[in-house]
Amino acid sequence: MSDDPRRVALSLLRRIEDEGAFANLVVPSTLDRSDLSRSDRAMVTDLVYGTTRLRRACDALVDRHISSPPDAATRRILRLGAYQWGWGGVPAHAAVHETVSLAPRRVRGFVNAILRRTVEGPPPSELKWPSLASQLSVPNWIYDLYVDEVGAESAVASLARMNVPPAPVVRDDGYVQDRASTWVAAAVGAQTGELVLDLCAAPGGKATALASAGATVIAADLRTQRAGLIAENAHRLGIPNDRLSVIAADGTLPPFADGKFDAVLLDAPCSGLGALRRRPDARWRVEPRDVDVLSSLQQSLIDSATTLVKPGGRFVYSVCTINASESIDHGIPQGWEVDEVPPEGEWQRFGHGWRVLPHDADTDGMVLMRYRRLA
Ligand SMILES: C[S@@+](CC[C@H](N)C(=O)[O-])C[C@H]1O[C@@H](n2cnc3c(N)ncnc32)[C@H](O)[C@@H]1O
Repeated sequence: MSDDPRRVALSLLRRIEDEGAFANLVVPSTLDRSDLSRSDRAMVTDLVYGTTRLRRACDALVDRHISSPPDAATRRILRLGAYQWGWGGVPAHAAVHETVSLAPRRVRGFVNAILRRTVEGPPPSELKWPSLASQLSVPNWIYDLYVDEVGAESAVASLARMNVPPAPVVRDDGYVQDRASTWVAAAVGAQTGELVLDLCAAPGGKATALASAGATVIAADLRTQRAGLIAENAHRLGIPNDRLSVIAADGTLPPFADGKFDAVLLDAPCSGLGALRRRPDARWRVEPRDVDVLSSLQQSLIDSATTLVKPGGRFVYSVCTINASESIDHGIPQGWEVDEVPPEGEWQRFGHGWRVLPHDADTDGMVLMRYRRLA
């Protein structure tokens, strides 16, 4: 592969857009194999993540100067140029010149003309955008869902915050995790001597935190390969096998006896609409019907998870999305009461649970629900 960071970025964008590659997998693995310098790696990451997050906004910026839509490869080059100038802090001349040099000869004149007109026009902060969804670079349905869930003002603030890369938060034990995820693990209240199940645990961020808190943890995940990531992370953090054991299992058919655990954490598979900044391509991948499918999977997981807790024990449910249909709409399980003690962290009350929006505390958007099994 070429060592030019813009060319590496363009080839990664092609894999993400045309082959459905996941940005947060393909970018680190490509960079690991490259001989790019540290600063070039940072540049590739910013170009790929930024252009992917702001795909719709980049298109709006150049589309004002285009009469008939370009082919996908040319569109990709225009996006990369628009991102560098509009959001990447690259001066106009360099953004145009360096991007044009990536274009095949047959479209070089076209790319040059469109990018020149783009940088001569208003910058993103002064543009008359076709819509707020276009400015915020999300599909209309995600914008509408946010407005319905949190109101227009918070929707704009949440979505804007998810266009800015997350600041890494490093736990005391060295694991890099979103701050709201650390609050979810803390909400389990795991104690030394307790047996705790994390039913959907990969890659193990919360399971390792529960083990570090002193509990004996069983960490399950549906996919064997992902379960392997939990074991890798536990090993890297020096957590002994007898403190955290890993198992590949379907959480809707858990291979454990009823009433076995002091606490069960269900950090459920979800649409991830609160964590769009962390997964730059997710907004273009998730579809409205996924929300319904995931919601019914979550209900099945809740039904099975709650049978596994001892009388008097705890059940904690979390999702990295902000919508009611994947959280509080699941209701209070029969035979359980809501734990009303406010959890650690900057949560706001949300029905019988707690929610944090991305702009509240610069974390992922999440919902947390905590229950106690009636004795
Ligand atoms: C939100 S992630 C968990 C993140 C994890 N708790 C952490 O903090 O690192 C949800 C996980 O659920 C897993 N999953 C999906 N369907 C499942 C099922 N039926 N049973 C168990 N795990 C499942 C996915 O493979 C994914 O790893």
